[in-house]
Amino acid sequence: MTQAATERRAVGVVRILIEARAIQTRIAELARELDDHYGSDIPLMVGVLNGAVTFMTDLMRAMTIPVVIDFMAVSSYGASTRTSGVVRILKDLSEDVEGRRVLVVEDIVDSGLTLQYLLDVLRRRNPAEIRVVALLKKEKGEAADVQVDQVGFAIPDEFVIGYGLDYAGQYRNLPYVAVLDPSVIDDVEV
Ligand code: PRP
Repeated sequence: MTQAATERRAVGVVRILIEARAIQTRIAELARELDDHYGSDIPLMVGVLNGAVTFMTDLMRAMTIPVVIDFMAVSSYGASTRTSGVVRILKDLSEDVEGRRVLVVEDIVDSGLTLQYLLDVLRRRNPAEIRVVALLKKEKGEAADVQVDQVGFAIPDEFVIGYGLDYAGQYRNLPYVAVLDPSVIDDVEV
């Protein structure tokens, strides 16, 4: 790693919340549960772009059963650190979900609004089953009561970055989950 890269990371990270190794250990556990759940069936894994890409690619490689993958892109936040409650489909699935066992893969459930919207859309397409796995779920009272079947880590209500999660498009490539330094919010160009 270059000195410049080290300094860039240090600017945004207040503290590491979940180390890279702990993420991989937990993903192996989630993958074993999913292998058991699906048995000889082939689930359609639906990753929610962009944040879930990192989790999805690690999770599917930790699973031993065959899977089919597809992606949806939805927008809820823009460049802000708080949800707007507005969700739009930016990219829809290529696969037909009717009669399939669908596994929605999310990086984080915060307010739950994005996932709630996505599940409503998918349920209307008559899948045989919908299951949801999220790497992170915020522990907050006001969150929507939304279906999440497997959670990697319950985390406090702080703005987190890394391992797919961004602030203003940055920090997704950190291998760990970290808390964003609030002073960065004013510094990042959005
Ligand atoms: C993030 C994250 C979830 C959603 C969770 O996506 O990936 O999809 O917000 O927030 P909520 O539970 O409050 O709805 P975002 O819209 O920031 O896009 P991204 O995945 O491209 O970062």
